[in-house]
Amino acid sequence: MKLNIPKNIADIIPYPPGKPLEELEREYGVSDSIKLASNENPWGPSPKAVAAAQEALNSLHRYPDGSSYHLTNALAKWTGAASEEIVLGNGSNEIIEFLIKAFVRSGDEVITSHPSFLMYQKFVQVRGGTNIVIKLRDMHHDLEAIASAVSERTRLIFLDNPNNPCATLTGREQFAEFLAKLPENLIVVLDEAYIDFVEPEKRIDVQTLIREPEGIPAVVALRTFSKAFGLAGLRVGFGIMHSDIASLLHRVRQPFNINLPAQAGALAALDDQAHYDKTMNGTKEGLAWLSEQVRDLGCVPYPSCTNFFLIDVRGDATALYESMLHKGVIIRSMKAYGYPHFIRITIGTTEENKRFFNSLKTCLQELAYV
Ligand SMILES: Cc1ncc(COP(=O)(O)O)c(C=O)c1O
Repeated sequence: MKLNIPKNIADIIPYPPGKPLEELEREYGVSDSIKLASNENPWGPSPKAVAAAQEALNSLHRYPDGSSYHLTNALAKWTGAASEEIVLGNGSNEIIEFLIKAFVRSGDEVITSHPSFLMYQKFVQVRGGTNIVIKLRDMHHDLEAIASAVSERTRLIFLDNPNNPCATLTGREQFAEFLAKLPENLIVVLDEAYIDFVEPEKRIDVQTLIREPEGIPAVVALRTFSKAFGLAGLRVGFGIMHSDIASLLHRVRQPFNINLPAQAGALAALDDQAHYDKTMNGTKEGLAWLSEQVRDLGCVPYPSCTNFFLIDVRGDATALYESMLHKGVIIRSMKAYGYPHFIRITIGTTEENKRFFNSLKTCLQELAYV
């Protein structure tokens, strides 16, 4: 083949394709493995969501409702935003893509932090934009450095709040000060994939900010059904934004981007408070228990306001990741993120947390880290 491949596409490092769980188990000779690597909901999907998605399968011969009317209205109620201020995506990933498609041209700049969620930079590359990457400071977004990096070409700033992988939060006041320093003609995207796990009084009041028409940049908040609602496999996310921005994103999206079972499942999940509460309580308890246990082992757990946290294991994180795989426990090494001695753990069920802890204890001894 003699293809003319654009340089911006050739330069993209492909997302590492994780192996299916069964493949990994075969390769490592283990069974009943547990996955604490992707910040998913260990309590599974809401049974109400499963039933609704199953029911929707009977109508698979029909196109889904292109406006996701019922889900959008239910989300308006859930968030306190108006339905015109909500845009749905095939995962919140897709809304990141919409924003970049709608606002970034070749040569425009987008500011992100490192480390943070990897998709922002990837979509910017696809679009031929320029990534301006600012290192976290003390594991938090360095808002001062980000504000200083803004230029006439800046179109978007992405802040994952809480940050993935550090599980740290940017507070209300810091954020207000930050916005006040910025020019009006750009968009600040708060990626709130994990906001459900944050105490309400610590959350930024995005519903009010999106309606601030003058004096500060536009604010867009991104949310997802993949974490607190346990529907990562269904792919539903949404953005909350000024209705003028929402109408622009509707122009760039495909008409049927939220499939039929996804609309039905997400709608039912919003109505399952018991499952949501179980997730919140279980996460809080698991985080407290695990943090204490790993500290007793001689590791350093980092504070977290989400369903995952970082642990300094005082040795090579990737070697530990490999050893844990042999025990059927899948975790994330933070070496590639610039933290060679850190692992990231998703909070699991009580049984999963115990299994993780026992395996960690054995592996740390085998590797002589503690
Ligand atoms: C910070 C952050 N934003 C967005 C996402 C993607 O969410 P979704 O599954 O809704 O595309 C993730 C997934 O891990 C994430 O960590």
